[in-house]
Amino acid sequence: MNNMPQLGLGTFRLQGQQAVDSVRNGLELGYRHIDTAQIYGNEAEVGQALEASGVPRREVFVTTKIWTEHLAGDKLIASLKDSLHKLRLEQVDLTLIHWPSPQNAVPVAESMQALREARDQGLSAAIGVSNFTNALLAQAIAAVGAASLATNQVELHPYLQNRSVAAFAREHGIHVTAYMPLAYGKVLADPVIAAIAQRLHATPAQVALAWSLAKGYAVIPSSTRRENLAANLKAPALVLAAEDIAAIDGLERGERLVSPDFAPVWD
Ligand SMILES: NC(=O)c1ccc[n+]([C@@H]2O[C@H](COP(=O)([O-])OP(=O)(O)OC[C@H]3O[C@@H](n4cnc5c(N)ncnc54)[C@H](OP(=O)(O)O)[C@@H]3O)[C@@H](O)[C@H]2O)c1
Repeated sequence: MNNMPQLGLGTFRLQGQQAVDSVRNGLELGYRHIDTAQIYGNEAEVGQALEASGVPRREVFVTTKIWTEHLAGDKLIASLKDSLHKLRLEQVDLTLIHWPSPQNAVPVAESMQALREARDQGLSAAIGVSNFTNALLAQAIAAVGAASLATNQVELHPYLQNRSVAAFAREHGIHVTAYMPLAYGKVLADPVIAAIAQRLHATPAQVALAWSLAKGYAVIPSSTRRENLAANLKAPALVLAAEDIAAIDGLERGERLVSPDFAPVWD
């Protein structure tokens, strides 16, 4: 989607004052895309920080995600209204199905149609999915059409490049958002990434983020530290040479960090 800033601020794990501080710092530094979710338990803190920031509403892109317990057709919209209340917003910019329904208890089509209805009611400007495999994304496309799907947000970093999922989304004109783009810090100690960073006078985090951005993915790193938030925000200015991108491509090792017991069978 064209109005989503390609670098956003993740908020998973951030609770209470730490969530408020991270979002406040992020907005002060210039982040204009915040990623939260019902299950993170911090929508109220995100809303508080957004309101206190004084940044005009139209300048910030806010994403939330519907938890698995709210995927049924008669629950989804009420849960999104509750999220909006916590976020102190009339509309979010993007709402995602956070995970496919465990054991397919709620059919994909039912959730997608409820999500489309939420969009039609103006509760969310755009809609999409997260943690969808290619087979599930095909079901979502069949339900609401590819043009209605703004993104598939998936775990993606140099150690899990998710090439099949990215290629399938691209074929259907659906944007990929890379979550956990730093592999929760794991890729920062990688010698290949560290060497590129040293040569370019950049940080390993900037190199990892620049690699995802070069592939055309949005990235949503999180940090509790203002200096890391500031440094990460500069990643889009870092242009990697083709050889450096190829060297990072070579780091793929299928290392998935997020796979709860209700996860789908991954591609
Ligand atoms: N859709 C989903 O199912 C799903 C699942 C997981 C995550 N997500 C989203 O993706 C976001 C990002 O994932 P994540 O937060 O799990 O992991 P991440 O962004 O890959 O990594 C965050 C970790 O990296 C560290 N870090 C960040 N910038 C750094 C820097 N410049 N230098 C050194 N260390 C740095 C942070 O530590 P410090 O705090 O010390 O900086 C933190 O420990 C989440 O917050 C969430 O919004 C979505």
